[in-house]
Amino acid sequence: MIRRQFLARALGVVVASLGARGAFAQHAGHDMHDMSDMSGMEGMDDMHGMHDMRGMQHMAPHAGQPAGVALAPQNALPSGAPLAALRRLANESSDPGTFRATLVAQPQRRQLMPGKETSFWLYGDAAQGPIVGPLIELREEDTVEIRFVNRLPEPSTVHWHGLPVPPDQDGNPTDPVAPGASRVYRFTVPRGSAGTYWYHPHPHMQSSEQVYRGLAGPIIVRAADDPLVAWPERHLFFTDLKLAADGSVAPNDMMDWMNGREGQFVLVNGARRPGIVVTRDERWRVWNACNARYLRLSLGANYPFAQVGTDGGLLGVARDGLTELLLAPGERAEIVVRAGQWPSQAMLSAAVYDRRKMAMTHGSSLPPDPLRVLADVRFAPAGASAVPTPHVLPSTLRPIEALQPPAGSVAPQKSVVFSEAMDMEAMHRPGATMHEMPAGMKFMINGATFDASRIALTSRRGDVEHWSIENRTDMDHPFHLHGTQFQVIEREQDGKKMKEPYLAWRDTVNVQPGETVRIATVQAIPGERMFHCHILEHEDLGMMATLKVV
Ligand code: C2O
Ligand code: CU
Ligand code: CU
Repeated sequence: MIRRQFLARALGVVVASLGARGAFAQHAGHDMHDMSDMSGMEGMDDMHGMHDMRGMQHMAPHAGQPAGVALAPQNALPSGAPLAALRRLANESSDPGTFRATLVAQPQRRQLMPGKETSFWLYGDAAQGPIVGPLIELREEDTVEIRFVNRLPEPSTVHWHGLPVPPDQDGNPTDPVAPGASRVYRFTVPRGSAGTYWYHPHPHMQSSEQVYRGLAGPIIVRAADDPLVAWPERHLFFTDLKLAADGSVAPNDMMDWMNGREGQFVLVNGARRPGIVVTRDERWRVWNACNARYLRLSLGANYPFAQVGTDGGLLGVARDGLTELLLAPGERAEIVVRAGQWPSQAMLSAAVYDRRKMAMTHGSSLPPDPLRVLADVRFAPAGASAVPTPHVLPSTLRPIEALQPPAGSVAPQKSVVFSEAMDMEAMHRPGATMHEMPAGMKFMINGATFDASRIALTSRRGDVEHWSIENRTDMDHPFHLHGTQFQVIEREQDGKKMKEPYLAWRDTVNVQPGETVRIATVQAIPGERMFHCHILEHEDLGMMATLKVV
């Protein structure tokens, strides 16, 4: 039988036992009529012990709390304010080439919903300004020294997503900073690493919650010889927010754990549907810092844009004339948006994308998310009198060479396989609970969930390797590898191979169900590196493994 059907059915039973209809009505309203029909148990014959549903109480998202939290309505947050500028993390050093700062993570109450306070967990001095971590702006070859102070009620780490920092400075789950404690993260930013990165917590089994409570922030590394330095820059940091009707940050429910959490709000620099006025051609940096939401960005068919960069910085050659760009969770991009010649009004939206989210019944997928407007964009091109800006992109943005093993040698091969399964035994064990995460829902890498004491793969530093990442599950998963930027070589689906049409540096790549993505990658520093699905609920559920670099 189809694995997915089995999983979906079994979960259906579990959720029904929680009496948690309200919770997933929010996600799967159209499937609700199926939920009462638990009599169709075909395929469940091997689920012995289904009579004992009492153990399932432990699968409620938070003990003692009903799974069905009433959510705030879609319009509970005001919209239409001008896009907020990001806060910045101040450099306390006056030495050129040094960035020294203090980054505090702390609970912070803010009023986003009129009349209702929300307690977030935020980085920096966040009493005002966007509820996004402050922008850390670095230059290539900077020495960075950031003291992290953990004022959260639980352990945390800071992971510098995409930057080639030493493994012991990269916020690995095995290096937690205790509540009330602090530590200094030290690293240098190598030449050639100019790009768009971000930082977020990475404690094992707590990353999802810490990020959805507000802990994530942008990093920009600048090059001395940036060919696009003359383009005015705009930053759009996308986060996802799920608010309960009382203004609190809602806990994860079963559907959140299974498909990855998507709230009712997508925020841009901390606000719902802001307004952007474009008077000149602009360079936009965009971050998908959502726990699980895919963003197929579009300004509409009449507003093509150029992609000039990926996670790890500029492309070799701009990809012009795009009308959409898919950003999986964790991914970043740089695009050039043109002001045009006449005033007009457009919408920046997340177009329909089907990442094959699982439904609770009938082994089927949920329908794709409908189009969602993220921001309103008004084009008001400045006349000839205005500051002249360059309009023509350089034909080469920067040279990128294909990552290859030395001539005459063969790249070591590595295989990463994503799979999903139901652990019936764990599901039925009375009292089974995994930090309030639902037991029995398994998302795996190479047949296992994360175990901090196990090395899944070993690489020699300096070796250019070919990795294949194969998705044997029924939904999309964004693959992310720490400590380096890799190149996608090709993608294969249904026996058809598609060479990647352009060279780019990435640290995150989406892998569709049934797809195999091949990458070339190299690690420079010995130590332990994580690789995982960047749907943070999946990461917390164990879809993560350790690469040892020797
Ligand atoms: Cu952005 Cu290991 O993650
Ligand atoms: Cu990372
Ligand atoms: Cu995943």
